[in-house]
Amino acid sequence: MKRIDKIVSEHTYYTRKEIKKLISQGAVYVNGEEVKRPECKYDETDISLTINGKEIEIKTHLYLLLNKPKGYVSATEDESQKTVLDLIPIEYKYRNLFPAGRLDKDTTGLMLITDDGEFAHNILSPRKHVSKEYEVTLDVPVTSTMVEEFKNGVNLNDGECKTADLVITGEHTANVTITEGRYHQIKRMFGCFGAKVLELNRIRIGNLYLPEELKLGEVKEATQTELQRIQERN
Ligand code: URA
Repeated sequence: MKRIDKIVSEHTYYTRKEIKKLISQGAVYVNGEEVKRPECKYDETDISLTINGKEIEIKTHLYLLLNKPKGYVSATEDESQKTVLDLIPIEYKYRNLFPAGRLDKDTTGLMLITDDGEFAHNILSPRKHVSKEYEVTLDVPVTSTMVEEFKNGVNLNDGECKTADLVITGEHTANVTITEGRYHQIKRMFGCFGAKVLELNRIRIGNLYLPEELKLGEVKEATQTELQRIQERN
């Protein structure tokens, strides 16, 4: 059970002061009944809420898919750089959103932005084996030795990587699938072979491929099917 002023503030732009005023004006209704005081408590998972006759959609959590462009850091705030949250439309800004995992500033592709910590943990924890697939472009040709070594587990200075799947798609290009998310992991893995990653684009999390309609810099709410796919091991 949660106070109505808190529920309203988590689902609208109204400030606490405005919410108090709306309630005193008789503008807030829960399940068809006028709310008399801001302290009234409700089960937010099971109410229909209207303000000035307008239905407010209650979503306990928000799940946004972003096709991250280059130039944005994966943080909620930064003193000098643009963050992925700068790409979120204003109507979602009242939520405590954060990116589920990090992509480097110069990496592009699929990213989940949510306010659901448990969900984020589930797709990020290596124990859950949710794989992430990236398209890579290298400054040198991709070799079968790399494929073999990625499979065996590349040794980085912070320990051996879990087995990674490397599929050659062109002379300098490949698709890499990993289940961990260590700092600069893919760049460091290729670094072991003296190779530099020129382009890195995440195309899949779990069983969810970057939706085709989601252009660079665009954000959309994930559907139930997409959320299910994102959690699937493969
Ligand atoms: N590995 C990297 O090196 N960078 C990323 O952004 C993601 C995986």
